[in-house]
Amino acid sequence: MLRADNLSFAYPGQALPYQFSFEALPGEVTAISGTSGSGKSTLLDLIAGFLQPQGGRLVLDEANLSPLPPENRPVSLLLQSDNLFDHLSARQNVELGLPREIAAASRRALVETALKDVGLSALVDQSASTLSGGQKQRVALARTLLRDRPILLLDEPFSALDDETRLTIRDLVGALTRAQGWHTILVSHHADDVAALAARHYRLVDGSLRLEETPAKP
Ligand SMILES: Nc1ncnc2c1ncn2[C@@H]1O[C@H](COP(=O)(O)OP(=O)(O)OP(=O)(O)O)[C@@H](O)[C@H]1O
Ligand SMILES: [Mg+2]
Repeated sequence: MLRADNLSFAYPGQALPYQFSFEALPGEVTAISGTSGSGKSTLLDLIAGFLQPQGGRLVLDEANLSPLPPENRPVSLLLQSDNLFDHLSARQNVELGLPREIAAASRRALVETALKDVGLSALVDQSASTLSGGQKQRVALARTLLRDRPILLLDEPFSALDDETRLTIRDLVGALTRAQGWHTILVSHHADDVAALAARHYRLVDGSLRLEETPAKP
């Protein structure tokens, strides 16, 4: 289980610090919603280690994550925007998600499968600068999923997708989360996504997380 206990943080000059407490179970999607500017991306930055909390604990299966720098955390993160290197192809961008120790022969197949899963087989060698917004979002998601880390942080991952693609990609995230046992934290403004994917739903209000009712999942 991933657990935050009173993880507190304030930007310089911020009067009332954020105070985050939540629990996320393996194999489940935990959704975070809240108005624009409420602190959702800030929470993901704290989990990923890009921001240092001023107090509290972040624990994964009894291991305290707080002292670890971002590169040593068991985390993959999809940012809200600016995820790709424009001068690289879709394939090269996705390959950046793979650990170095994976052999060259396997790398190619893993990257191609990841791009196929997000519906982009035809575009593997296209430069990221020539992809549409939704295509870029899917390349970035393919790279994030390929990292296969216990904690998956997704910041509005479906925002640029049309309804049909959104459903396919959403199912993929749900299926991989269950199959791999990831603790997936999904930031989303969309009630639909939360209802379809989340086993647990927190709303960020006034700097802290409130557990909301979620319908039972089949
Ligand atoms: N580096 C920073 N320094 C100071 N304040 C910041 C910084 N980054 C974000 N903030 C402020 O902290 C608050 C929370 O920002 P955050 O990006 O976490 O919101 P959010 O919930 O992700 O919003 P959105 O839904 O629009 O993405 C905002 O008021 C924002 O202006
Ligand atoms: Mg945000």
